[in-house]
Amino acid sequence: MRHILIIGIGAGNPEHITVQAINALNRADVLFIPTKGAKKAELSEVRRDICARYVTRPDSRTVEFAVPVRRTEGRSYTESVDEWHASIAATYEELLERELLEAQIGAFLVWGDPMLYDSTIRIVERVRMRGRIPFGFDVIPGITSLQALCASHRIPLNLVGKPVEITTGRRLVESFPEKTATAVVMLDGEQAFRKIEDPEAEIYWGAYLGTSDEIVISGRLDEVKDEILRTRAEARERMGWIMDVYLLRRGADFDD
Ligand SMILES: C[S@@+](CC[C@H](N)C(=O)[O-])C[C@H]1O[C@@H](n2cnc3c(N)ncnc32)[C@H](O)[C@@H]1O
Repeated sequence: MRHILIIGIGAGNPEHITVQAINALNRADVLFIPTKGAKKAELSEVRRDICARYVTRPDSRTVEFAVPVRRTEGRSYTESVDEWHASIAATYEELLERELLEAQIGAFLVWGDPMLYDSTIRIVERVRMRGRIPFGFDVIPGITSLQALCASHRIPLNLVGKPVEITTGRRLVESFPEKTATAVVMLDGEQAFRKIEDPEAEIYWGAYLGTSDEIVISGRLDEVKDEILRTRAEARERMGWIMDVYLLRRGADFDD
């Protein structure tokens, strides 16, 4: 039976990769590398670099594939994501059938860790449930952008004994600061921190973490908000794309 390894490769620094991930890369007969268009070419470049550095097995090969683009017009968010996943599942199924022989191992190299705001696991499961191509799969964890953010700012993720909410820009106002003392925000295309009016809130922001273009800014939200907006806009213009994540926090250790 075919087998799939879903490998977390870290969030941008090729040195994020774990020994377990290197061993998994070297178990694979075929390494699948997603491409997401010219603007995000650097993300595919990191994956190629990882293969070049760590794959020592001479007989494996890489197969690049274009990730289908999500359509949003005339669909609700849920419809749009469901349709998108179905289209990626069809792509995966075709890849497994075409590129992997029976009993071979294929690897998907996933940015950060596959369990965090990534759908590779659920899409692979979707293909498996369809049952047309029987296969098993395993997941190998990786360093997330969240860990990279905290490490670059040299901060712990949580305040002592307090919870953390991981959310998206779209939903930030529902949770911070009323419901949680710490919110981590990913996938924020609208810079939702702009809408937070709290003189005690602090922000730890990072873009292109782990890469040579990494930028980090931290401070009281009302004091650094404009600097982050300006820096983000300039970087996005210069690079043609941006990936950023931030942590918002209110209060201190032992303050209740
Ligand atoms: C689809 S999610 C994937 C998250 C990934 N699985 C992880 O473990 O970090 C993409 C989001 O992760 C964050 N992200 C991933 N890598 C990043 C990096 N190197 N620097 C800043 N943010 C990053 C951004 O918020 C981006 O919008």
